[in-house]
Amino acid sequence: MATTKLARKLPAPRSYDLEALFDAAKAVSKNAYAPYSRFRVGAALLSANGTVHVGCNVENIAYPIGTCAEAGAIAAARAAEGAGLEAVAIAVYAEKEGEGHVACTPCGACRQRILELSPATTVHFYGSRDKVVSVTAADLLPHAFTF
Ligand code: THU
Repeated sequence: MATTKLARKLPAPRSYDLEALFDAAKAVSKNAYAPYSRFRVGAALLSANGTVHVGCNVENIAYPIGTCAEAGAIAAARAAEGAGLEAVAIAVYAEKEGEGHVACTPCGACRQRILELSPATTVHFYGSRDKVVSVTAADLLPHAFTF
């Protein structure tokens, strides 16, 4: 079964302030380094102990080595909490230069990264500029890679 290893890491669903989580994602998107895409992304990860860990995209002139906001938030969360990290939710927010707030669904690689936290982590993002989509990591990446 594809998610056998990951399924052990299910955190309990809990209620939280989604607006505050998006506020944190929006705030950190201002720190993005995105001179190539002009697409600034912020991600805010809520852990089970109530801490919000944030990350932004950091691009590079060697394009493929740039990193996504979600990867930054996940790295910060793991660095701060170690093996005890239980990721309840992650919110993603993006702005495009000249357009302001835009939709942004996590890229395929980040879906795999989020799934690794737990299949039950809830991912919140704007599917269109005004509409929040909320799905579990498992639903966001069907047929995920595993071995
Ligand atoms: N990006 C993210 O940070 N997260 C996503 O979910 C999608 C894309 C970044 C990568 C790159 O720096 C820029 O957005 C344009 O692709």
